[in-house]
Amino acid sequence: MAVLVTGGGGYIGSHMVWALLDAGEQVVVIDRLSTGFRWAIAPEARFYEGDIADTVLMRQIFSENEIDSIIHFAGSIVVPESVADPLGYYENNTVKSRSLIASAVEAGIPHFVFSSTAAVYGTPEVLEPVTESVSLKPESPYGSSKLMTEIMLRDTANAHDFTYTALRYFNVAGADPKGRSGQSSALATHLIKVACATALGKRQSMSVFGTDYPTPDGTCVRDYIHVWDLVQAHLKALQRMRAGGGSLAANCGYGHGFSVLEVLDAVRKVHGSDFPVTFAERRAGDPAMIVANPALARQELGWVPEYDDLNGIIRSALDWEQHLMRKNAH
Ligand code: UFG
Repeated sequence: MAVLVTGGGGYIGSHMVWALLDAGEQVVVIDRLSTGFRWAIAPEARFYEGDIADTVLMRQIFSENEIDSIIHFAGSIVVPESVADPLGYYENNTVKSRSLIASAVEAGIPHFVFSSTAAVYGTPEVLEPVTESVSLKPESPYGSSKLMTEIMLRDTANAHDFTYTALRYFNVAGADPKGRSGQSSALATHLIKVACATALGKRQSMSVFGTDYPTPDGTCVRDYIHVWDLVQAHLKALQRMRAGGGSLAANCGYGHGFSVLEVLDAVRKVHGSDFPVTFAERRAGDPAMIVANPALARQELGWVPEYDDLNGIIRSALDWEQHLMRKNAH
């Protein structure tokens, strides 16, 4: 049986493809290459260029491949962009996911792993690691667009022979430990990516968004998780569902947070250089602090993270950034 990865040309999707191939799985990818890259998709995967909401293409993919599982990454991921363009986010993340889920049900695909997000929680009422049972109060259209998809999956699983795992990602960073993939989008706005690009001189400077949050140093606190640990959680989710496990929503984070200033200090330390930083206003849609309680993923999926080390995450992100600089120089 094969696994269909949507958004397999993107940052996390491309790592997922490598992890599946490493595990001996057959992999099919669909990506319309709006932000992903053809070169980022492992050549051993069968590739279809197109849109997950193209129901004719989806039928073709399901008829040409023996697919038993879908891992769904395709979507838009930038919180402030979603605040500026909510309808674009609901279209791309919610409406298109609805179409993909309908195609999966029509084709009788039994297993579905969904790339959800910690943004479904918004700012937790208590500043401590969140469990999956706290109230879901997204603060951005991005978070709402993902929560709406979780709700569709829940109701679909109640109505059909269909099991899903929604993995709520915290802040994903770093690159494949074997150097085969990394965060490659020049437009990426995520903190570790931006800080590494600034440290390497690819960017002139960067901003810290907000210094007056109710956190120890006034900057936002996040739970940074290595992308390789994250994709391993997806593999575990797949194995669990194939073995008869039921539907589940689980956090993917390490359970401890770092402030923006702590991350910047770590980048300075790991790279061994200083770089310019300006202090700016708060960014729209940012919760003050969000850290995972990962107990459920550990218990239900048997997920044991291997790369829980901020400096190591930053090292791998810097290595990938340098790889991109060399690649673009040729
Ligand atoms: N930040 C800066 N400067 C930058 C970039 C980011 O100060 O140049 C700050 C942000 O304001 C925020 C923190 O760094 O406080 C982290 O921001 P990111 O953009 O790296 O990530 P987000 O927390 O906004 O969002 C990410 C994912 C979401 C996920 C969320 C969960 O994109 O999918 O983490 O916490 F839901």
